[in-house]
Amino acid sequence: MPVSRREFLAGTVAAGLLKASGVALADDRPMLRRKIPGSGEELPLIGLGTSRVFNVDDSPEQRAPLKAVINELLEGGGIVIDTAPSYGLAESVVGDLVADLGQPRKIFLATKVAANGKETGTRQIQNSFKDLRTGVVDLYQVHNLRDTVRQLGLLRELRAEGKIRYIGVTHYVDSQHDELVTWVRQEKMDFLQFNYSIAGRAAEQTLLPLCADLGVATMINRPFERGRLFRGVKGKSLPPWAVEFDCHSWGQFFLKYLAAHPAVTNIIPATANPHHMLDNIQAGKGALPNSRQLAKMIEFVDNL
Ligand SMILES: NC(=O)c1ccc[n+]([C@@H]2O[C@H](COP(=O)([O-])OP(=O)(O)OC[C@H]3O[C@@H](n4cnc5c(N)ncnc54)[C@H](OP(=O)(O)O)[C@@H]3O)[C@@H](O)[C@H]2O)c1
Repeated sequence: MPVSRREFLAGTVAAGLLKASGVALADDRPMLRRKIPGSGEELPLIGLGTSRVFNVDDSPEQRAPLKAVINELLEGGGIVIDTAPSYGLAESVVGDLVADLGQPRKIFLATKVAANGKETGTRQIQNSFKDLRTGVVDLYQVHNLRDTVRQLGLLRELRAEGKIRYIGVTHYVDSQHDELVTWVRQEKMDFLQFNYSIAGRAAEQTLLPLCADLGVATMINRPFERGRLFRGVKGKSLPPWAVEFDCHSWGQFFLKYLAAHPAVTNIIPATANPHHMLDNIQAGKGALPNSRQLAKMIEFVDNL
Protein backbone atom coordinates (compact mmCIF):
# COMPACT_ATOMS: atom_id res chain seq x y z
CA MET A 1 0.00 0.00 0.00
CA PRO A 2 1.43 3.42 -0.89
CA VAL A 3 2.45 5.55 2.08
CA SER A 4 1.35 9.20 2.06
CA ARG A 5 3.85 11.93 2.90
CA ARG A 6 2.01 12.60 6.16
CA GLU A 7 2.21 8.92 7.13
CA PHE A 8 5.87 8.84 6.14
CA LEU A 9 6.66 11.85 8.31
CA ALA A 10 4.80 10.23 11.18
CA GLY A 11 6.79 7.02 10.58
CA THR A 12 9.62 5.91 12.75
CA VAL A 13 12.55 7.03 10.62
CA ALA A 14 11.33 10.58 10.04
CA ALA A 15 9.88 10.90 13.52
CA GLY A 16 13.17 9.77 15.06
CA LEU A 17 15.15 12.21 12.95
CA LEU A 18 12.85 15.12 13.58
CA LYS A 19 12.49 14.46 17.29
CA ALA A 20 16.26 14.11 17.60
CA SER A 21 16.63 17.56 16.04
CA GLY A 22 13.95 18.97 18.34
CA VAL A 23 11.56 19.61 15.47
CA ALA A 24 7.80 19.10 15.65
CA LEU A 25 6.15 16.74 13.19
CA ALA A 26 4.44 18.06 10.06
CA ASP A 27 1.25 20.00 10.59
CA ASP A 28 -1.22 19.80 7.71
CA ARG A 29 -3.03 23.01 8.60
CA PRO A 30 -2.75 25.77 5.96
CA MET A 31 -0.03 28.33 6.36
CA LEU A 32 -1.18 31.74 7.65
CA ARG A 33 -1.23 34.40 4.93
CA ARG A 34 -0.82 38.17 4.82
CA LYS A 35 -1.95 40.65 2.16
CA ILE A 36 0.44 42.74 0.09
CA PRO A 37 -1.24 46.10 0.85
CA GLY A 38 -0.76 47.58 -2.64
CA SER A 39 -2.47 44.74 -4.50
CA GLY A 40 -4.40 42.64 -2.00
CA GLU A 41 -2.50 39.52 -3.19
CA GLU A 42 -1.92 37.15 -0.27
CA LEU A 43 1.45 35.62 0.59
CA PRO A 44 2.11 32.75 2.99
CA LEU A 45 3.98 34.09 6.04
CA ILE A 46 7.11 31.94 5.91
CA GLY A 47 9.47 31.94 2.94
CA LEU A 48 13.09 30.99 2.31
CA GLY A 49 16.32 33.01 2.23
CA THR A 50 19.29 31.80 0.16
CA SER A 51 22.28 33.88 1.28
CA ARG A 52 25.34 31.60 1.78
CA VAL A 53 23.26 28.40 2.07
CA PHE A 54 22.40 28.21 -1.67
CA ASN A 55 25.90 29.14 -2.86
CA VAL A 56 26.85 25.60 -3.91
CA ASP A 57 28.26 23.94 -7.02
CA ASP A 58 26.29 21.57 -9.24
CA SER A 59 27.29 18.31 -7.53
CA PRO A 60 24.32 16.08 -6.63
CA GLU A 61 25.51 15.89 -2.98
CA GLN A 62 25.30 19.68 -2.65
CA ARG A 63 22.09 20.13 -4.64
CA ALA A 64 19.97 17.28 -3.18
CA PRO A 65 19.33 18.82 0.26
CA LEU A 66 18.49 22.19 -1.33
CA LYS A 67 15.98 20.52 -3.63
CA ALA A 68 14.46 18.90 -0.53
CA VAL A 69 14.35 22.33 1.18
CA ILE A 70 12.32 23.79 -1.72
CA ASN A 71 10.04 20.74 -1.71
CA GLU A 72 9.39 21.20 2.03
CA LEU A 73 8.66 24.88 1.45
CA LEU A 74 6.06 24.09 -1.22
CA GLU A 75 4.58 21.06 0.59
CA GLY A 76 4.15 23.24 3.67
CA GLY A 77 2.28 25.92 1.71
CA GLY A 78 5.17 28.39 1.33
CA ILE A 79 6.05 30.03 -2.00
CA VAL A 80 8.49 32.91 -1.38
CA ILE A 81 12.22 32.53 -2.19
CA ASP A 82 14.56 35.50 -1.78
CA THR A 83 17.94 35.58 -3.50
CA ALA A 84 20.47 38.03 -5.00
CA PRO A 85 23.27 38.15 -7.59
CA SER A 86 25.70 38.87 -4.76
CA TYR A 87 25.00 35.48 -3.09
CA GLY A 88 27.58 33.67 -5.23
CA LEU A 89 25.90 30.93 -7.27
CA ALA A 90 22.61 31.10 -5.35
CA GLU A 91 20.53 32.70 -8.13
CA SER A 92 21.47 30.04 -10.66
CA VAL A 93 20.97 27.25 -8.08
CA VAL A 94 17.47 28.62 -7.38
CA GLY A 95 16.86 28.90 -11.14
CA ASP A 96 17.90 25.29 -11.76
CA LEU A 97 15.99 23.81 -8.83
CA VAL A 98 12.79 25.76 -9.53
CA ALA A 99 12.97 24.82 -13.24
CA ASP A 100 13.34 21.16 -12.18
CA LEU A 101 10.05 21.43 -10.29
CA GLY A 102 8.30 21.82 -13.64
CA GLN A 103 5.89 24.41 -12.24
CA PRO A 104 8.04 27.52 -11.77
CA ARG A 105 5.09 29.93 -11.52
CA LYS A 106 4.17 28.41 -8.16
CA ILE A 107 7.13 30.24 -6.63
CA PHE A 108 7.09 33.92 -5.67
CA LEU A 109 10.61 34.86 -6.72
CA ALA A 110 12.38 37.81 -5.10
CA THR A 111 15.83 39.03 -6.12
CA LYS A 112 17.90 42.20 -6.00
CA VAL A 113 20.08 44.56 -7.98
CA ALA A 114 23.32 45.88 -6.47
CA ALA A 115 25.05 48.07 -9.05
CA ASN A 116 26.20 51.60 -9.76
CA GLY A 117 24.92 53.16 -12.96
CA LYS A 118 22.26 52.29 -15.50
CA GLU A 119 24.44 50.14 -17.76
CA THR A 120 25.87 47.98 -14.96
CA GLY A 121 22.42 47.63 -13.40
CA THR A 122 20.85 46.61 -16.72
CA ARG A 123 23.58 44.04 -17.35
CA GLN A 124 23.26 42.58 -13.87
CA ILE A 125 19.47 42.35 -14.15
CA GLN A 126 19.72 40.63 -17.55
CA ASN A 127 22.11 38.07 -16.04
CA SER A 128 19.77 37.48 -13.11
CA PHE A 129 16.81 36.77 -15.42
CA LYS A 130 19.04 34.30 -17.27
CA ASP A 131 20.34 32.63 -14.09
CA LEU A 132 16.86 32.46 -12.59
CA ARG A 133 15.58 31.04 -15.90
CA THR A 134 12.49 33.22 -15.83
CA GLY A 135 10.78 35.92 -17.87
CA VAL A 136 9.09 37.47 -14.82
CA VAL A 137 10.46 38.25 -11.35
CA ASP A 138 7.79 38.77 -8.72
CA LEU A 139 9.76 41.15 -6.51
CA TYR A 140 12.89 43.11 -7.54
CA GLN A 141 14.68 45.04 -4.79
CA VAL A 142 17.51 47.57 -4.68
CA HIS A 143 20.09 45.78 -2.53
CA ASN A 144 21.35 47.70 0.50
CA LEU A 145 20.25 51.05 -0.94
CA ARG A 146 22.97 51.06 -3.60
CA ASP A 147 22.44 53.77 -6.26
CA THR A 148 18.80 53.73 -5.17
CA VAL A 149 17.21 56.39 -7.40
CA ARG A 150 18.77 55.13 -10.61
CA GLN A 151 18.17 51.43 -9.92
CA LEU A 152 14.56 52.04 -8.83
CA GLY A 153 14.10 53.87 -12.14
CA LEU A 154 15.33 50.80 -14.01
CA LEU A 155 13.06 48.53 -12.02
CA ARG A 156 10.05 50.75 -12.74
CA GLU A 157 10.76 50.54 -16.49
CA LEU A 158 10.86 46.74 -16.27
CA ARG A 159 7.67 46.73 -14.24
CA ALA A 160 5.96 48.79 -16.96
CA GLU A 161 7.08 46.13 -19.47
CA GLY A 162 5.52 43.39 -17.31
CA LYS A 163 8.85 41.76 -16.41
CA ILE A 164 8.64 42.65 -12.72
CA ARG A 165 5.50 42.57 -10.57
CA TYR A 166 6.63 44.43 -7.42
CA ILE A 167 9.58 46.65 -6.49
CA GLY A 168 11.30 47.46 -3.20
CA VAL A 169 14.54 48.26 -1.38
CA THR A 170 16.48 46.34 1.29
CA HIS A 171 18.93 46.69 4.14
CA TYR A 172 19.98 44.48 7.02
CA VAL A 173 21.32 46.61 9.89
CA ASP A 174 19.61 48.81 12.50
CA SER A 175 21.94 51.73 11.74
CA GLN A 176 20.33 52.06 8.27
CA HIS A 177 16.71 52.12 9.48
CA ASP A 178 16.58 55.93 9.43
CA GLU A 179 17.77 55.85 5.81
CA LEU A 180 15.10 53.28 4.99
CA VAL A 181 12.49 55.56 6.59
CA THR A 182 13.58 58.40 4.29
CA TRP A 183 13.46 56.22 1.18
CA VAL A 184 10.14 54.57 1.87
CA ARG A 185 8.57 58.00 2.46
CA GLN A 186 10.16 59.48 -0.64
CA GLU A 187 9.81 56.73 -3.26
CA LYS A 188 6.70 54.80 -4.10
CA MET A 189 7.49 51.13 -3.54
CA ASP A 190 5.57 47.90 -2.89
CA PHE A 191 7.95 46.21 -0.42
CA LEU A 192 10.54 47.13 2.18
CA GLN A 193 12.98 44.39 3.29
CA PHE A 194 14.84 44.82 6.59
CA ASN A 195 16.21 43.00 9.67
CA TYR A 196 13.97 42.16 12.61
CA SER A 197 14.39 39.48 15.29
CA ILE A 198 13.17 38.73 18.79
CA ALA A 199 16.53 40.00 20.09
CA GLY A 200 16.75 42.95 17.68
CA ARG A 201 13.42 44.74 17.82
CA ALA A 202 14.32 48.24 16.52
CA ALA A 203 11.96 47.82 13.54
CA GLU A 204 9.00 47.92 15.93
CA GLN A 205 9.76 51.59 16.71
CA THR A 206 9.87 52.93 13.17
CA LEU A 207 9.76 50.70 10.09
CA LEU A 208 6.87 48.39 10.94
CA PRO A 209 4.36 51.09 11.93
CA LEU A 210 5.46 53.31 9.04
CA CYS A 211 5.02 50.52 6.46
CA ALA A 212 1.57 49.79 7.92
CA ASP A 213 0.65 53.51 7.57
CA LEU A 214 1.99 53.81 4.03
CA GLY A 215 0.55 50.49 2.82
CA VAL A 216 3.97 48.97 2.05
CA ALA A 217 4.51 45.21 2.40
CA THR A 218 7.39 44.05 4.63
CA MET A 219 9.88 41.22 4.10
CA ILE A 220 11.90 40.30 7.20
CA ASN A 221 15.54 39.27 6.82
CA ARG A 222 17.97 37.87 9.41
CA PRO A 223 15.13 36.50 11.61
CA PHE A 224 17.68 34.26 13.40
CA GLU A 225 20.44 36.89 13.25
CA ARG A 226 22.31 34.60 10.89
CA GLY A 227 21.96 31.66 13.32
CA ARG A 228 23.30 33.54 16.37
CA LEU A 229 19.97 33.16 18.21
CA PHE A 230 20.29 29.37 18.22
CA ARG A 231 23.74 29.53 19.78
CA GLY A 232 22.26 31.62 22.62
CA VAL A 233 19.73 28.89 23.54
CA LYS A 234 21.97 25.86 23.01
CA GLY A 235 21.16 23.23 25.66
CA LYS A 236 18.22 25.28 27.00
CA SER A 237 14.64 24.00 27.09
CA LEU A 238 11.72 25.91 25.65
CA PRO A 239 9.52 27.45 28.34
CA PRO A 240 6.54 25.12 28.91
CA TRP A 241 4.02 27.89 28.06
CA ALA A 242 5.29 27.98 24.43
CA VAL A 243 2.85 25.15 23.60
CA GLU A 244 -0.02 27.58 24.32
CA PHE A 245 0.69 29.13 20.89
CA ASP A 246 1.56 25.87 19.08
CA CYS A 247 5.30 26.37 19.44
CA HIS A 248 7.50 23.28 19.68
CA SER A 249 11.04 24.40 18.85
CA TRP A 250 13.36 27.36 19.22
CA GLY A 251 13.07 28.09 15.49
CA GLN A 252 9.30 28.37 15.86
CA PHE A 253 9.71 30.49 19.02
CA PHE A 254 11.90 33.01 17.18
CA LEU A 255 9.70 33.10 14.07
CA LYS A 256 6.31 33.16 15.81
CA TYR A 257 7.39 36.26 17.73
CA LEU A 258 7.89 38.06 14.36
CA ALA A 259 4.85 36.50 12.68
CA ALA A 260 2.61 37.88 15.44
CA HIS A 261 3.33 41.46 14.32
CA PRO A 262 0.45 42.47 12.01
CA ALA A 263 2.71 44.64 9.81
CA VAL A 264 4.94 41.65 8.94
CA THR A 265 4.01 40.35 5.48
CA ASN A 266 6.68 37.68 4.97
CA ILE A 267 9.72 36.24 6.80
CA ILE A 268 12.65 34.67 4.92
CA PRO A 269 14.78 32.44 7.20
CA ALA A 270 17.66 30.85 5.28
CA THR A 271 18.38 27.15 5.49
CA ALA A 272 20.13 24.35 3.63
CA ASN A 273 18.52 21.73 5.85
CA PRO A 274 15.11 20.28 4.91
CA HIS A 275 14.32 19.47 8.57
CA HIS A 276 14.93 23.10 9.45
CA MET A 277 12.69 24.17 6.55
CA LEU A 278 9.92 21.96 7.89
CA ASP A 279 10.51 23.41 11.35
CA ASN A 280 10.34 26.98 10.04
CA ILE A 281 7.16 26.24 8.08
CA GLN A 282 5.43 25.15 11.31
CA ALA A 283 5.95 28.67 12.66
CA GLY A 284 3.49 29.91 10.03
CA LYS A 285 0.78 27.53 11.22
CA GLY A 286 -1.62 27.39 14.16
CA ALA A 287 -1.86 29.98 16.92
CA LEU A 288 0.36 33.05 17.22
CA PRO A 289 1.32 34.57 20.58
CA ASN A 290 -0.99 37.24 22.00
CA SER A 291 0.29 40.46 23.61
CA ARG A 292 0.67 38.87 27.06
CA GLN A 293 2.63 35.95 25.61
CA LEU A 294 4.77 38.29 23.46
CA ALA A 295 5.78 40.19 26.61
CA LYS A 296 6.74 36.89 28.29
CA MET A 297 8.78 35.88 25.23
CA ILE A 298 10.75 39.13 25.35
CA GLU A 299 11.36 38.81 29.07
CA PHE A 300 12.50 35.21 28.58
CA VAL A 301 14.92 36.04 25.74
CA ASP A 302 16.28 39.19 27.43
CA ASN A 303 17.13 37.12 30.53
CA LEU A 304 18.92 34.29 28.75
N1 LIG B 1 20.57 43.30 2.57
C1 LIG B 1 19.73 42.32 2.30
O1 LIG B 1 18.94 42.43 1.39
C2 LIG B 1 19.79 41.07 3.12
C3 LIG B 1 20.69 40.96 4.18
C4 LIG B 1 20.67 39.80 4.96
C5 LIG B 1 19.78 38.77 4.64
N2 LIG B 1 18.94 38.89 3.56
C6 LIG B 1 17.99 37.80 3.20
O2 LIG B 1 17.45 37.25 4.39
C7 LIG B 1 17.74 35.85 4.46
C8 LIG B 1 17.86 35.40 5.90
O3 LIG B 1 18.94 36.01 6.59
P1 LIG B 1 20.33 35.26 6.89
O4 LIG B 1 20.59 34.26 5.84
O5 LIG B 1 21.36 36.31 7.09
O6 LIG B 1 20.17 34.56 8.30
P2 LIG B 1 19.00 33.87 9.18
O7 LIG B 1 17.86 33.43 8.32
O8 LIG B 1 18.74 34.79 10.31
O9 LIG B 1 19.79 32.60 9.77
C9 LIG B 1 20.17 31.55 8.92
C10 LIG B 1 20.88 30.50 9.79
O10 LIG B 1 19.94 29.87 10.66
C11 LIG B 1 20.05 28.44 10.56
N3 LIG B 1 18.68 27.89 10.66
C12 LIG B 1 17.63 28.13 9.84
N4 LIG B 1 16.53 27.52 10.29
C13 LIG B 1 16.88 26.86 11.42
C14 LIG B 1 16.17 26.04 12.34
N5 LIG B 1 14.86 25.81 12.20
N6 LIG B 1 16.85 25.49 13.40
C15 LIG B 1 18.18 25.74 13.55
N7 LIG B 1 18.92 26.51 12.72
C16 LIG B 1 18.26 27.08 11.65
C17 LIG B 1 20.64 28.19 9.20
O11 LIG B 1 21.46 27.02 9.22
P3 LIG B 1 21.02 25.67 8.45
O12 LIG B 1 21.34 25.87 7.01
O13 LIG B 1 21.82 24.62 9.14
O14 LIG B 1 19.54 25.49 8.68
C18 LIG B 1 21.52 29.42 8.97
O15 LIG B 1 22.81 29.21 9.51
C19 LIG B 1 19.01 35.73 3.62
O16 LIG B 1 19.29 34.41 3.24
C20 LIG B 1 18.68 36.65 2.47
O17 LIG B 1 17.82 36.02 1.55
C21 LIG B 1 18.91 40.04 2.82
